[in-house]
Amino acid sequence: KPKDTTEMTYNENFRPQYHYSPEAHWMNDPNGLVYHNGTYHLYFQYHPESSIWGPMHWGHATSKNLKDWENEPVALAPDSLGYIFSGSAVVDSLNSSGLGTIENPPLVAMFTYHDPKGAEAKTTDYQYQGIAYSLDNGKTFTKYKNNPVVPNTDKLVDFRDPKVFWDTSTQKWILILVAGDYAMFYNSDNLIDWTYLSEFGRDRGAHGGVWECPDLFPLTIAETGETKWILLISINPGAPNGGSGTQYFVGDFDGKTFTSNQQDEKWIDLGRDNYAGITYNNLPQEERIFIGWMSNWEYGQETPTEAWRSAMTLPRKLELHKTTDYFLSNNPLPELTAGLDTSSPEIKKESGVTKFTDPNLNQSKISFKLPKPLSNFELKLSNTKGEFLAINYNATTKEYSLDRSKSGQVSFSDKFASPLMKAPAIFKDNTASDFAIYLDSSSIEFFADGGSNALTAQFFPNDAFTNFSLATKDEIKELSIIHIPSIW
Ligand code: FRU
Repeated sequence: KPKDTTEMTYNENFRPQYHYSPEAHWMNDPNGLVYHNGTYHLYFQYHPESSIWGPMHWGHATSKNLKDWENEPVALAPDSLGYIFSGSAVVDSLNSSGLGTIENPPLVAMFTYHDPKGAEAKTTDYQYQGIAYSLDNGKTFTKYKNNPVVPNTDKLVDFRDPKVFWDTSTQKWILILVAGDYAMFYNSDNLIDWTYLSEFGRDRGAHGGVWECPDLFPLTIAETGETKWILLISINPGAPNGGSGTQYFVGDFDGKTFTSNQQDEKWIDLGRDNYAGITYNNLPQEERIFIGWMSNWEYGQETPTEAWRSAMTLPRKLELHKTTDYFLSNNPLPELTAGLDTSSPEIKKESGVTKFTDPNLNQSKISFKLPKPLSNFELKLSNTKGEFLAINYNATTKEYSLDRSKSGQVSFSDKFASPLMKAPAIFKDNTASDFAIYLDSSSIEFFADGGSNALTAQFFPNDAFTNFSLATKDEIKELSIIHIPSIW
């Protein structure tokens, strides 16, 4: 039973202060990330009645700068065709759909209808794709009268999470969705009539669970000018550290088929709490900005928050690099901390361990540099109750790990404390490695080597973390802290 939510203040226990979380109740995947007329839209899977998953709606928030968010009314609610599952949104500038006018082009959302009755009756074709359009800048939507626009003709049990974008080379709308554990591609001239093109993935990547929330976009490697296409695929379960995770494929897309020579598995973030992430459509600049759901289906509904549950990751810029192989880096947007004071903490050194205490550590960005090759280190964030998060680097196995087993409340789920989150290190070059840690009440986002490695995790301490310690034989450079004010 949700407690009374009329008095939500964003001061609730564990509530993030500079990450987006809806005013109250349950949230999962980001949906319909689109920039339009100066506004960044963030729609999301939302259950407005409860702090656990249920009949899905699209909740809505808007931002002018991807830092400060405003809560908006629910944008899409279930109807006789089903719940409103995940999907995407595009600006139909030329009114190809005829759902608006040239003067006022429609914002078109495509989502999965999930018919709960069909799911319960164990029919197979209870997921299909529908569209809805907005003529008032994404505030309210009208559902298209002849939904679904992509019926489930092959009666596939899982058939969902449409991502639509405009492909400049073929001058078509492209749609990717996932069916079980592979992706399907379609194109269209008008967002209504869709032609099946191809599939990808039965023989690639991780297959320990269902593929969800695809995304596809080109990225150019800054250093060489080479352009590749990136396919993001969330998978649940089947992530290397347990439960939900997001893998990606580097390849090519010719407007019809996605191909990739990639043999190994690649993951956006090896923390356990970054799932179903997708990127913005229609940005004015050539950039890929990603937001993920900061949770995991293994325990996401059981976390010890009351009346609200889960937050999004910080918006992150994705960039493609190549050393011996391709890899993506992700870094929170610099705008998030622009203009804020950077200070050097008052450091104490005790038997080779660098330490400082800061009363507002739990709402900050901490940065430092270490020389390469990296040697073993142990970084600890802790409170006066002895609860801690530990991040280690093991120079022998060349692996980072994040341990939250003693970070506070963990027993709400037997899946939460373990396993250890492990990430094989990726090194972008031979220069000093720069580290950044964003702490916000109940989340840590850890980035190593300029974002070439990412670990995102929730934790639920019984008291705020105020202590930092770093044990390494190397010289720590440029250790600094930025306090990030609340956006609420
Ligand atoms: C991913 C997901 C999607 C689905 C949605 C339902 O977390 O399972 O595949 O559309 O959540 O809320």
